[in-house]
Amino acid sequence: MCGIVGYIGHQSAATLLLDGLQTLEYRGYDSAGIALAPGDGAFRVTRASGKLINLRNKMDAQDPATLGIGHTRWATHGRPTEENAHPHRSADGKIVAVHNGIFENFLELRKELQTLGETFSSETDTEAFPVMVSHFMKAGLGFREAFHRALGRMEGIYALACLHADDPDRLLAARSGPPLVIGLGEGETFLASDVVPLLRHTRRVIFLEDGDIAELTRTGAQISRLDGSRVERPEQHIPYDPVAAEKGGFKHFMQKEIFEQPQAISNTLLNRLPIEPGEPIPLDLPFSNEELKALQRIHIVACGTSWHAGLVGKFLIEQLARTAVEVDYASEYRYREPVIPEGTLIIGITQSGETADTLAAMKEAALRGARTLAICNVMGSTATRAAEASILTHAGPEIGVASTKAFTTQLAVLTLLALRIGEAKGTVNPAQKEELLQGLRELPAHLEHLNALEPQIMRWAQKYRDASDFLYLGRGPLYPIALEGALKLKEISYIHAEGYPAGEMKHGPIALIDKNLPVVALMPKDAHREKTLSNLQEAAARDGRILGLVTQGDHGLDGIAEDVLELPDVHPWLAPILYVLPLQLLSYHIAVLRGCDVDQPRNLAKSVTVE
Ligand code: F6R
Repeated sequence: MCGIVGYIGHQSAATLLLDGLQTLEYRGYDSAGIALAPGDGAFRVTRASGKLINLRNKMDAQDPATLGIGHTRWATHGRPTEENAHPHRSADGKIVAVHNGIFENFLELRKELQTLGETFSSETDTEAFPVMVSHFMKAGLGFREAFHRALGRMEGIYALACLHADDPDRLLAARSGPPLVIGLGEGETFLASDVVPLLRHTRRVIFLEDGDIAELTRTGAQISRLDGSRVERPEQHIPYDPVAAEKGGFKHFMQKEIFEQPQAISNTLLNRLPIEPGEPIPLDLPFSNEELKALQRIHIVACGTSWHAGLVGKFLIEQLARTAVEVDYASEYRYREPVIPEGTLIIGITQSGETADTLAAMKEAALRGARTLAICNVMGSTATRAAEASILTHAGPEIGVASTKAFTTQLAVLTLLALRIGEAKGTVNPAQKEELLQGLRELPAHLEHLNALEPQIMRWAQKYRDASDFLYLGRGPLYPIALEGALKLKEISYIHAEGYPAGEMKHGPIALIDKNLPVVALMPKDAHREKTLSNLQEAAARDGRILGLVTQGDHGLDGIAEDVLELPDVHPWLAPILYVLPLQLLSYHIAVLRGCDVDQPRNLAKSVTVE
């Protein structure tokens, strides 16, 4: 959601900022803009609604300015028009700013500034900021001091970048909420909302903390707090390969990320599986065995796909660690005054580590005394810094808006975590543990095998692309996968889809079944197989078109299902990681056939940093 880039250096800022914004497109946006500071007392500001190409077409890519800021906007206050696109300027044109977040007191500030004679030209909350800085400068403050003073008046959350037209050697930035990362180069310094735009230029980064103000120059960055005190933030090295954030021959990021799952799961498991049988799970957690043993209950909070991972996590933790788990939508949990008895661990599952609701739910639980753990894909993200402990999923950058590899790696981490807590509590049977560990080791090879089934899934996509509704059914740990399959289809192909526990079908959804409704059935050979089979016989008796996903060699759906895909025989508790992959591919290919924008579906943002 909204993206910021900034550059101060020796290269032409225009192309660099445009390319940087391009790599942030995945976050979701509906307008964009760039301000270049040539150092002659005036900015060159270009803005455009719609896709970045509109902005690119309006700009001179060879512009010699070596300082600038850019922004992709996902509309919150004010429509996605060119006038509302960032950067915003003060009326005298001397200050420009880009902003992620919301200034909650902007109406009040606007009125105050208007009374003082200042004027506004947009409907946005952001404009109050450059106008306020300019106002303080007219009163005699220098740029930096005016920036600090204006920040002191802002209520709400923000990541900000700001320039002064007469100051060609300085870019000011501030963070309170949405992330900002500084990239350090040779004679050049970069700013961005996340590390992805920085990877092409540098791996040396500094993550700003809440309340930090940064002054970027061509030789680096100085960081201070609102009260003016200086702070040092550690320089970190980002291990990702820059090509990890490129499409690399695939048509879309989503397709690439589906295909990356064997490697992603290997990376998740690297150094986290015991070498010798009987050894403890080497999952690096700051909780002692005694502390894990003392856990009375676990609350999992998350949104969307990560919430589905939480539902599988509940199943695994309750089975392996015999500890009660509640799973909540973070947006509900944060406002329902949750009861948090002593001995509660809250686990926030979040790919981005920036989802506002998940962060707030974790904070709420921490205030009520819970221990906190984040399962996250983004190193240095807010969730990993706010929680007492974090486990990184190591899926690599996920650019497609629809989550794929982040989800399966979350499931792998949850399996390890359930085993680790179960070990500490003495509830895991050693043979069962070895069987699951062996299953985890074999997963990458099984996922490779599933990727090879893409042609068959493409035929399904061709056949079912025109359906207007889909029903997904599963039981036990496959029920969340039914939900996830339905969500994937909805979000990228805009086809209505529902996921249900197969046993719940006759309590309502069975009324939907007719010859036009594809029913995607997840039926591995597990304890629920017979029950699921009889639910599917009921669906077939009502002419439902059944697409079955079954264990290799299982012919139970012959004569019942219209299409069947056979999947490798794995431990039933690892089946969610396998069964979701064909569902991702099915959604992907249906969306492509329907001409949808797969990587940036309408109205969606990759990291949802507002409520
Ligand atoms: C769906 C999807 C979203 C996210 C949700 C939470 O494909 O990607 O539903 O799962 O917005 O995001 P994170 O995991 O970043 O907290």
